Amino acid sequence: MTDPQLVLTERVQQALARAFGSEHADADPLIRPSQFADFQANVAMSLAKRLRRAPREVAEAIKTELSDFPGTVEVSGPGFLNITLDDSWIESEAQRMLADPRLGVGTITPAQTVVIDYSAPNAAKEMHVGHLRTTIVGDSLARLHEHLGNTVIRQNHLGDWGTPFGMLIEHLLDIGEEAAVAQLEAGMGTEFYQAARVKFDGDEAFKQRARVRVTTLQSGDAETLRLWHVFMDATVRYFNKVYKLLGVTLTDADIAGESMYNPMLEKTCDDLETSGTAVLSEGALCVFPPGFTGSDDKPLPLIIRKSDGGYGYATTDMAAIRYRVHDLKTDRILYVVGSEQALHFRMVFAGARLAGWLPDTVSAEHVQIGMMLGKDGRRFKTRSGESTKLTDLLHEAIDRATAAIADRGYDEATTKEIAQAVGMGAVKYADLSVSHDSEYILDFDRMLAFTGNTGPYMQYATARIRSIFRKAGITPAEATGPIALGEPAERALGLHVLGFGELLAQVATESEPHRLCAFLFQTASLFSTFYEECPVIKDGVDPAVRQQRLSLCALTLRVLETGLDLLGVPVPERM
Ligand code: ARG
Repeated sequence: MTDPQLVLTERVQQALARAFGSEHADADPLIRPSQFADFQANVAMSLAKRLRRAPREVAEAIKTELSDFPGTVEVSGPGFLNITLDDSWIESEAQRMLADPRLGVGTITPAQTVVIDYSAPNAAKEMHVGHLRTTIVGDSLARLHEHLGNTVIRQNHLGDWGTPFGMLIEHLLDIGEEAAVAQLEAGMGTEFYQAARVKFDGDEAFKQRARVRVTTLQSGDAETLRLWHVFMDATVRYFNKVYKLLGVTLTDADIAGESMYNPMLEKTCDDLETSGTAVLSEGALCVFPPGFTGSDDKPLPLIIRKSDGGYGYATTDMAAIRYRVHDLKTDRILYVVGSEQALHFRMVFAGARLAGWLPDTVSAEHVQIGMMLGKDGRRFKTRSGESTKLTDLLHEAIDRATAAIADRGYDEATTKEIAQAVGMGAVKYADLSVSHDSEYILDFDRMLAFTGNTGPYMQYATARIRSIFRKAGITPAEATGPIALGEPAERALGLHVLGFGELLAQVATESEPHRLCAFLFQTASLFSTFYEECPVIKDGVDPAVRQQRLSLCALTLRVLETGLDLLGVPVPERM
């Protein structure tokens, strides 16, 4: 364990137990970073109340028990404990981290199986910017859990089934397979859908054909299924283009769309009805999970079979949760989906618990994704007012990145490579650096800025450390220590990076990649200060000092590289 705050927490808890009895061993010592010392512990105040003793006296007693602590402890004010770690402790921990291939990042034991449901665009509509964000956040969580030793099962819950497919297949037949495939592969799914919709609304004969087609699809007719595959395969090829451009880890093997659950839906409903979990209400089969009421105080139904016999989104999610627990044997399910679906998921989770399909040992969590807004603060749309093609949006980011680095004198191939990394890094980092459940304004100028908490800044900070090594004529791997932290800027940087492993564990627990962004941003900022104040490769720097500082550079570089990799943000070699 290397995280200073965690080490301190444990030490203070032991001190509390020794001073006041083991019943205090679990008390939260309330340790926070402080401006007067490395950390401040505020536990003495709250404890003093309970013990009916003077806070300063309680603080002194804790201090006495901390005598073997590798640092200095002072009591100040009404009973604060100001704690400063010894430089030598920070140095040796940093050294240990540098020597550790895992950079002090532990693995979760026992390892968990984590299902991550993310991306999940709808084939029958469009892949829109909202899906971009669930894709990016979900992918980062998948990378992080894998890094921490968990088994990750990615589930791309595509919207690939349902009544719209009747009209989509008929439209496909109207325009011809080849033309349809070309259109879908090019990301014109929305236009395709809209054209079908227009005919459906205006042409009675088409509407009739579409209705019949839904029935033949549901009944498993071979030719209809073939046409459905033609449509889906072309659509998925477009999704894959987006994933590839973004460097997202999803593959075809991760597709577990709504259609996959279709054969299970009848049994899902039957089992829920037989067990009494679902009841008929006005002809529809419904689950009424306790605690959900509508505005009129009437119990709110989760409709799993409509009165016309049709299944819906909720039916599929009930089948999916059972499959994930029972077949995939998951310990945890993360649903990385828009926050507007919060009620749906709360009801599905409650319904599944009621049915006994989601035992207490399995946690189901909705990682709510806030809506993407345009610069005008309204739901994001492109300039023309049409919803935008995702690849256009991504290419716009790349074009802007190209313009931003145009004057740097790279040849065409290098420019292209850097621009792609910077453009995609900017989009991804912007999505990730804001808390996932807050709304998010898509603003190219801001996300592509080379200063502030942005992708390009983080990439630049990383590339800069790499260039230091190029100038020094050694590789980062050759900077193996020792680490010395004599200067305040060195010490601050060293102390900060020690928290990396614990931070990652917390980000995985809380599903909060934005905290990793904040940590990395602070790392880069502290590095900047260090590099300004402490010459590394300048002429005249003592060779031993140079080696020590290069070692701190190497440690920082690995923290940034590892962290950005877990965010899925690529780092170009130079910028
Ligand atoms: N396709 C859905 C949408 O775009 C998201 C699916 C999320 N996952 C799920 N298991 N319901 O809204």
